Amino acid sequence: MIFMKDISLCIMTRELCHELYKGWENDPAIYTDTDLFVPYRYNEKSVNRYFDSKQDSSRILFAIMKNDKPIGEIQLKQINYDSKECTLSIHMQNDGVKGHGYGTRAERLVLQYAFDVLGMKVVNADTVIKNTRSQHVLEKVGFRYMREEGGFKYYRYVR
Ligand SMILES: CC(C)(COP(=O)(O)OP(=O)(O)OC[C@H]1O[C@@H](n2cnc3c(N)ncnc32)[C@H](O)[C@@H]1OP(=O)(O)O)[C@@H](O)C(=O)NCCC(=O)NCCS
Repeated sequence: MIFMKDISLCIMTRELCHELYKGWENDPAIYTDTDLFVPYRYNEKSVNRYFDSKQDSSRILFAIMKNDKPIGEIQLKQINYDSKECTLSIHMQNDGVKGHGYGTRAERLVLQYAFDVLGMKVVNADTVIKNTRSQHVLEKVGFRYMREEGGFKYYRYVR
């Protein structure tokens, strides 16, 4: 587990995943086509399938924890130990925990983990073009904007 102020990251467990998704809200900002947005409804089987689908050796899924409760998830995926590159993605649980600085702190923590624990040299990220909040946070923690392609903006953090 790694800490920053009141936020910590711990490896996601099945139990934490259920707790997280019981309070989950989908965010329209992550859809390229807003018509694809549907409100989230908790379903035990779907969460089990989701959790199982994230258990592969090229990915680490963390729960973002505050006061012993999961308030979001952040993952390092496409981890390549040869090229020392991976990709970050993040989603906070619901609007109640957005805009309090937790996402920024979680990104800083996961970058620390990627570089200091996994020995990565590059972390990539991407967002849909309209997701200016995510772009702002990526740039605030040190990502550099690279390019726009296929409805997405691509970012890169090189240590
Ligand atoms: C993007 C996300 C992870 C950020 O986490 P967060 O906890 O809400 O963010 P923080 O509170 O740490 O920081 C938000 C920053 O964005 C700024 N911001 C808020 N709305 C904004 C907008 N529409 N455009 C640009 N900046 C915005 C805030 O002012 C703040 O910046 P500041 O600290 O310099 O004032 C979170 O909002 C989220 O989960 N969104 C839905 C999923 C998502 O977009 N994931 C990213 C896909 S790559």
